[in-house]
Amino acid sequence: MKFIELAKRRCSIRGYRPDPVPDEVLNEVLEAGRLAPSAKNLQPYHFIVVRSDAGLDALASAYPAPFFREAPVAIVVCTEPSKGWTRDRHDGKNYCEVDAAIAADHMVLAAEDNGLGSCWVAAFDPAKVREAMGLPKGVDPVILLSLGYPDAPGREKTRKTLEELVCHEHW
Ligand SMILES: Cc1cc2nc3c(=O)[nH]c(=O)nc-3n(C[C@H](O)[C@H](O)[C@H](O)COP(=O)(O)O)c2cc1C
Repeated sequence: MKFIELAKRRCSIRGYRPDPVPDEVLNEVLEAGRLAPSAKNLQPYHFIVVRSDAGLDALASAYPAPFFREAPVAIVVCTEPSKGWTRDRHDGKNYCEVDAAIAADHMVLAAEDNGLGSCWVAAFDPAKVREAMGLPKGVDPVILLSLGYPDAPGREKTRKTLEELVCHEHW
């Protein structure tokens, strides 16, 4: 499949069948995250795979939307800001969240490529995720991904037009 078809097909899935995700499929999703580019190749992230009822229950307390607990797998994408690249010569901006987002996007696209649905989740309570996952100081949860087989086909996307998004040569 051409990449553009995969990008068109992927959409946020908020309803999952209970079928388990085979290890080889999950490993391919994680491998896609591992292969993602990062600033200076520092890879300042960790992926925590949660599949147990206890772990999923604990995460659901941080993000109680029913679809999230329905998914058989969650991946907690964490960053370690002290290990990320910072634009020190100019403004000191830390790029670890950009790196983590690229890795997460590689994972959701690999999930789609394997027939899995996924949803990015940022609206969680970070203190509860920290506690549920036992995150040490200096490691922050950035994104939760729900993963599982969709219970319904995907939807059409609503997006701004290219005219609204793209400028040429200057703002
Ligand atoms: C950084 C980020 C955070 C998001 N957080 C949530 C969230 O907390 N809950 C949710 O249901 N969807 C969340 N989404 C999914 C977006 O709502 C969704 O990607 C967007 O509406 C476009 O729809 P599509 O993914 O179906 O193409 C998030 C997406 C991104 C990229």
